[in-house]
Amino acid sequence: MNLQTPQTGEAGATHTADATTAEESFAIQKEQAKFDSKAATELAMQNTLLTPRFYTTDFDELDAIDVSPVREDWDKLIAQMEADPNKGHFKKNEDWDHVDWDGMDPALRKEFIDFLISSCTAEFSGCVLYKEMKRRGSNADITQLFQLMARDEARHAGFINDALREAGVAVNLGFLTQKKKYTYFRPKFIYYATYLSEKIGYARYITIFRHLEEHPEHRFHPLFKWFREWCNDEFSHGEAFALLMKTDPKLTSGRNVLWIKFFLTAVYATMYVRDHQRPAFHKALGVDPDWYAHEVFTKTSELSKQIFPITLDIEHRKWQPTLVKLQRANVDLDAARKQGGVAGFVKKLGAQARAASAFATLYFIPAQKHQVPDSPRLEPAY
Ligand SMILES: [Fe+2]
Ligand SMILES: [Fe+2]
Repeated sequence: MNLQTPQTGEAGATHTADATTAEESFAIQKEQAKFDSKAATELAMQNTLLTPRFYTTDFDELDAIDVSPVREDWDKLIAQMEADPNKGHFKKNEDWDHVDWDGMDPALRKEFIDFLISSCTAEFSGCVLYKEMKRRGSNADITQLFQLMARDEARHAGFINDALREAGVAVNLGFLTQKKKYTYFRPKFIYYATYLSEKIGYARYITIFRHLEEHPEHRFHPLFKWFREWCNDEFSHGEAFALLMKTDPKLTSGRNVLWIKFFLTAVYATMYVRDHQRPAFHKALGVDPDWYAHEVFTKTSELSKQIFPITLDIEHRKWQPTLVKLQRANVDLDAARKQGGVAGFVKKLGAQARAASAFATLYFIPAQKHQVPDSPRLEPAY
């Protein structure tokens, strides 16, 4: 629909080639797909500060949560999720336009595939964690919730993997489940990190969706058309974590507020640095990554007032310049790693120190305090 599908010389040659050449070309493509899928799975296996991780936690502690204090809101949310409004959504239909992967600008193709792999890993990471909780638990409320969330994340990851397959790439999700390293987080850290990742996920998807509604000429792939219903799933997941935190006031008060501030800073900073690694992708979308980050932070902060007593002061004079410093330190760190040797090592130490200092500056910007409402429940409004 909005996709330009110019015939490249290469594609034209394939159409007119004789049988042998076509077979050869197919064999090469198959080999290439195997390689790409191996490379994709390897990329998904990476555990750095910037790549999505798999988590494990103290499942017994999670299973012991009593949702009685939030029962009314809880039952409404579970009923909504059980009604499964997105049951038929994650399937390709006539809105799924043809994607000309061969004709795509190579820099864009590389960044977009990287974006899809990273998104697929993040979605699947949720699925693995939620499924494990469902498997290990005996608390009917908790297992029911995690079963519903695992259902959604499996659909999300599967749908992205479908899109990748068209590019000859597939992330081996079974292999990831068995072989990717699991990071242990105590339950309260899981609440903060997962709540934020669900809400920021909602904000990211809806911001792109609304932008492309206004600028359909930038919709270079059909996947973006699925984002509105998709982000409503993430919204509900975030709501569930807000209710879980609401069952215990200690989780969002006292010293834990410092942890909340840490997770807010880490999640925002990671998003900023990671998005700035994909200039061609954002250019194709017609999105300035600085504008996008600010939009997403504003929405996420507004939402997180439902449960967190603080938000980060993203309008503070030091906020944006320090994010830029952090991002530059990260670029230099990457270059130093690639350079290697003694000179690379020295540069690496310098870049790490600058990144740590930038992160500390962000963390120590005074936060804004809020009165948290009695009932956290919200509906998606963006
Ligand atoms: Fe998801
Ligand atoms: Fe989610």
